[in-house]
Amino acid sequence: MTALAQRKIVLGVTGGIAAYKSADLTRRLQDVGAEVRVVMTPAATQFVAPLTFQALSGNPVHLDLLDPAAEAAMGHIELARWADLVLVAPASADFMARLAHGLADDLLTTLCLATDAPIVLAPAMNRLMWRNPATRDNVALLQRRGIRLLGPTAGSQACGEVGEGRMLEPLEIVQALSEEGAGQGRLAGRTVLVTAGPTYEAIDPVRFIGNRSSGRMGYAVAAAARRAGARVLLVSGPSQQSTPPGVERIDVTSAAEMYRAVMDRLGEIDIFIGAAAVADYRPAQAANAKIKKDAETLTLALERTEDILQAVAMQPRPPFTVGFAAETHDLERYARDKLARKKLDMIAANWVGGETGFDSVDNALEVFWADGHASLGRQSKDKLAEQLVDLIAERYHAKHSA
Ligand code: CTP
Repeated sequence: MTALAQRKIVLGVTGGIAAYKSADLTRRLQDVGAEVRVVMTPAATQFVAPLTFQALSGNPVHLDLLDPAAEAAMGHIELARWADLVLVAPASADFMARLAHGLADDLLTTLCLATDAPIVLAPAMNRLMWRNPATRDNVALLQRRGIRLLGPTAGSQACGEVGEGRMLEPLEIVQALSEEGAGQGRLAGRTVLVTAGPTYEAIDPVRFIGNRSSGRMGYAVAAAARRAGARVLLVSGPSQQSTPPGVERIDVTSAAEMYRAVMDRLGEIDIFIGAAAVADYRPAQAANAKIKKDAETLTLALERTEDILQAVAMQPRPPFTVGFAAETHDLERYARDKLARKKLDMIAANWVGGETGFDSVDNALEVFWADGHASLGRQSKDKLAEQLVDLIAERYHAKHSA
């Protein structure tokens, strides 16, 4: 049995000469036990007839978004739900541009928007189109959202030129997918829970105490953990960030709700990453009705919230626990103190008060664990998250093989 056995794969075929290879790809996927349904863009049908794919896959080929007969049999939403994986091969420059911009102007782009299955693209295009800054930007954007690319490779192209832009061979695509699914990801088979964003603590029905956390770091960590093959639960306070593909998001508002959401799921998780900026204090008593400005001054009594990170780390059998710390001075001393005091496996600390902080796109982290330290230099939170998840995976496996 390979990792693709019984996987439900939507194979998207877009317009390009490499579409002829997709016929072979359909076969190869079935050879390793996958169930394949083919979706073609209108341009793809100019290169290969839908009947070819229908005969090979043994299923009707899906062509139109608004075809009543096709929608009655298996509509685009059902197809999006059915898929364990959406593989687009070949993925043309035009298709990637439409996907990057969230268009839903044909069946395949709509399906990609409506699925929470992982999306993998095997691009194929002329080498100059591949090199074009517009394509480069689209590729970067798609990758940031967790979409994986296989290839392209360099070689002679149908247009007579030689360069990068050739689609991988069907067998290479099947091999790459099999390896991924077989648990090559550093966190495959593990469940990771990430907290992210701020919390809002009610003062009265219309007011709250909050903070400036955007949630960006936590969301980037969740996306990176997902790319590393983990099942990812993201317990998020109010945040404008979009849910990374394949991540299960649980929305909460207050520290108390976040605490409950985490505690309820403790039994399922292998790794806990506390990236949320949880309020340390909340109004001791939230008013039931809107507070009127009758008095000259108003004093709010505050009480401590639950320390979620500490509660997780203090469990009799805690998951691998990672905390964050923001410091304005004596960073290493305070971070190491928190690591020991809260019995954490790892702490990621950053300087605040300067240029970096809650709202910024960039950040830098000093990461500490009992017998080690790593400096992750200033870069985008996405790249930083990738490196942090690498470190977490490494320390997690070191702990469990010890
Ligand atoms: N945290 C938590 N629950 C809280 C408060 C914080 O889970 N009620 C987590 C955060 O998600 C973060 C870490 O704890 O991972 C931050 O630790 P904390 O001791 O609150 O850090 P600082 O706010 O920097 O602490 P201090 O005020 O002691 O400097």
